[in-house]
Formats: sequence, structure tokens, C-alpha cells
Amino acid sequence: MAAQELEATARALVAEGRGILAADESDGTIKKRFDSIGVESTEENRRAYRDLLFTTEGAEEYISGVILFDETIRQSSADGTPFSKLLERKGIIPGIKVDKGAKPLALAEGETITEGLDGLRERLKEYRELGAHFAKWRATYSISDTLPSEYCMWTNAHALARYAALCQEAGLVPIVEPEVLMDGDHTIERSFHVTSRVLFAVFTELADQKVQLEGTLLKPNMVLSGYDAPERAGVDEVAEETIRCFKRHVPAAVPGIVFLSGGQSDEDATAHLNAMNKLGPHPWQLSFSYGRALQAPALKAWAGKDVEAGQRAFYHRAKMNSAARSGLYAPEMEREAATV
Ligand code: 13P
Repeated sequence: MAAQELEATARALVAEGRGILAADESDGTIKKRFDSIGVESTEENRRAYRDLLFTTEGAEEYISGVILFDETIRQSSADGTPFSKLLERKGIIPGIKVDKGAKPLALAEGETITEGLDGLRERLKEYRELGAHFAKWRATYSISDTLPSEYCMWTNAHALARYAALCQEAGLVPIVEPEVLMDGDHTIERSFHVTSRVLFAVFTELADQKVQLEGTLLKPNMVLSGYDAPERAGVDEVAEETIRCFKRHVPAAVPGIVFLSGGQSDEDATAHLNAMNKLGPHPWQLSFSYGRALQAPALKAWAGKDVEAGQRAFYHRAKMNSAARSGLYAPEMEREAATV
């Protein structure tokens, strides 16, 4: 029964036309986002901003789940309804980020290991009581000529699998997020190679640690050239290489792959997802779990003042990404936003 429930939740999160909003920025990250629009990062401002996103009328057509941060899952909407209740009432599944961030990996210059396993069983129990049905844990890998090391890939894979097993024991769907960062001037071939190695390690550890893949979602990077690469691969190449990589390494038992945006522009993130879905059908649903690519225009339009403008921008981005779920997005659709 528990296994069926996990699978049902995982499938609901990647239901047709819908995807996930990552609104789980830690205190440091949300401060950076607020700094960019000149808004002070107070607890009330963070609450008000998340309230704007979660109360956007109609967004539930396109958004299946929201990843919350520890502070946010304990906060409430302006009318006093706890955020997790508010989301559930709209048919949106509440989730929670449970890792404690990427810290320097011992004896491995320039590499990180994600922490947060100690006490995780107890924290998951509390989050479940607070209304969460799924969780997220992010590991990061930098690309250079020599990195990431096998040491970094296997230690992070081991931690991701330990987290995933604990989630399933607690009745939460684990979103497993190994993020190969786009920083650097590497080629798309190098990104393909590193992403392949990382996925191989992750799925080896998930299997060894008995994680039920039917009740798990993968949140990976796309296979892209580095930000500073002299020549960057175009949309079609990114789509083809990403699919080629995932077909080799992601078992068909996984119900969905929900991509992170990782600093791509919001329109690029949508175009890439669209191009991949156009190449379908695939063994898994291909969806989104975007943070920046869903929120950047909303943050800017809101700027600490204009709730309606923020909601319009968020709604539009969610709708564009929903279209990309079925390969029906076209850049001309972006103009709609300016005319409504
Ligand atoms: P981005 O889409 O901004 O990369 O954020 C997604 C996320 O949840 C990173 O952990």
C-alpha cells in the first residue's frame, strides 16, 4: 500500500500539462533574489512573496506541486491559512527541501558534499505532519578539466540514496537532484560525459539501497555547454544530447524527470523542455521543477509592491512551461503576456 501511495504521488506530480514550482530558496538565496529587486529580506517580506505565488489564481492548472523551505512550510497566507493547507485546497501537492546545503568535501579541493542526513528520519516525520508529501535533496558537481572526481560523485550518490530511502520509509516521494553546474567554458560533450557518470553513480546507489524507483522523481540538469563556452550548443542539440544521455542512464521505472533550470534564462528553459518533449514519446514524463525560470519575471514585476503584476508574470511563465510539457510551446506565445 505504501508503495502504491508513493507511486500515485510521484505520478500526480508529473501529470499531463503540469510541473513543479521550486520555491525552496534558503535564507541566503532568497536574500540574493530580493537584493536584485531592492527588497529587504525580512520574514514578512519572504512570506508575502510566497503568498503572492501560491495564491495566483489558475496557476494550479499548470502547477502540480510546490517545494517549500523549512520557514515557509510553517508560515500562513494573509488570511491565516497555513501554506500547506492552501496549496492542498487548490490541488497542489506541498513538498519540502530537506538537505542542509552543499559543504566543502573533505580532502577534495573545489568539490562539495551535501549535508543533512543526521536527524533526517525525525525531520521527515515532522514535515509529513506539517503536510508535505514529497521532498528534495540537491547535490552539486562543478565541471573542470579534472572535476568532478569519482570520490565526489560516489559520496554524493550515496547520500542521495540514503535520503531517498529515508523519505520512502516516511511515506514521502524523494526528488533526487544531482545538479551538474553550468559554470565554466566546457563543451556539451564534456557535460554529456559528466552527467552520464553522475547518473550512473546515482542509479547504482539507489538500487543498492533498495529505493523504489516507481515512487521516485529525478531532478537533473540538462546537458548543456558551459555558460562561458566560446560556442554554445543550440536548442535542438541540447534536446537531443539530453535525451540520449537519459535514455542510457535513467530506468523506465522512474515516472518522471523534472528538470531544474540552473540559471538558464526563463525562455531558454522553456524552449529546451519543449524541444525534448517534441522528440517524444519517452519512457518517462519530462517536466519541470524550476526555481529561477518560473520566478524571475514575477520577482521583477512584483518588486516588493505590485502583487497583481507579479501574479500575472508567474501565471504566464507557468502556462508557457505547461505548453512545453507537450511540445506545443512557440516563442510567439511570449507576446501574449504583454497584451493581456
Ligand atoms: P533552479 O530552477 O533555479 O535551478 O532551481 C531549482 C532548484 O530547486 C535548485 O535546487
